[in-house]
Amino acid sequence: MKVLAINSSPNMDQGNTAEILNPFLEGMEEAGAEVEVLYTRKLNIKPCLGEFHCWLKTPGKCFQKDDMAEVLPKLAQADIWVLATPVYVDGVTGPMKKLLDRGIPLVEPFFELRDGHCRHPRREGTKSGKLALVSNCGFWEMDNFDPMLAHLKAACKNMDREFAGALLRPQGGAIRAMREMGAPIGEIYEAAKEAGRQLVKEGKMSPKTLETVSRELMPLEMYVQIANQGFQQALDQNQEVQAKAV
Ligand SMILES: Cc1cc2nc3c(=O)[nH]c(=O)nc-3n(C[C@H](O)[C@H](O)[C@H](O)COP(=O)(O)O)c2cc1C
Repeated sequence: MKVLAINSSPNMDQGNTAEILNPFLEGMEEAGAEVEVLYTRKLNIKPCLGEFHCWLKTPGKCFQKDDMAEVLPKLAQADIWVLATPVYVDGVTGPMKKLLDRGIPLVEPFFELRDGHCRHPRREGTKSGKLALVSNCGFWEMDNFDPMLAHLKAACKNMDREFAGALLRPQGGAIRAMREMGAPIGEIYEAAKEAGRQLVKEGKMSPKTLETVSRELMPLEMYVQIANQGFQQALDQNQEVQAKAV
């Protein structure tokens, strides 16, 4: 089973998104999947220019010369896509959106009715498969993921993939620091790994495992207070550095 993971955090493996993505992928590998990770920060992917060249003039191929030429066949051949992205202004990051838009050569231009709704059929050579989302956000509440979830579930229907579920980590600004300080949050990392094993072995992830990935790190008021203290400290330190430089 081939898994293609795309991490669109500009912080790559030093970021909060990778805190959950990496154990998830480890679990998938443990269960026997062949896993490849791409980082959008290392890729040159231009925005779609909306000319429908890839549908009508060179079917299945975009005319733009960039790294998408290598990403497209990997997407076409993967059984599971793992899309990893922090929440940026209530959605996926810009580079992730560019990659998704540039994915339209994977489907045909034709409309077909599935469940009474217009959809595109998959192009020959594009495997049917699943999509799992891994996301991290700075705010405390789970509902910060709602717009992104709605978007990716709709995109799956649009492009004929199965939405397999999401590993969502709110209060995400705290997770790395808490792990480094030795806070008792090991079960979150174990659950991320377990979710990876489950998806490969059983084809689905248990709601209980996913709930553990998202479980509360600290009460809302405490999170707000700690976050604001951190921001104030960073601003004060920066002011000191600038004052010394004058
Ligand atoms: C441009 C930008 C927009 C953001 N927008 C949101 C947002 O709408 N909601 C939210 O909860 N967090 C938001 N965040 C916070 C990030 O989701 C959070 O810092 C996350 O942990 C970053 O993940 P990373 O370390 O993997 O890059 C935003 C961060 C940036 C830089």
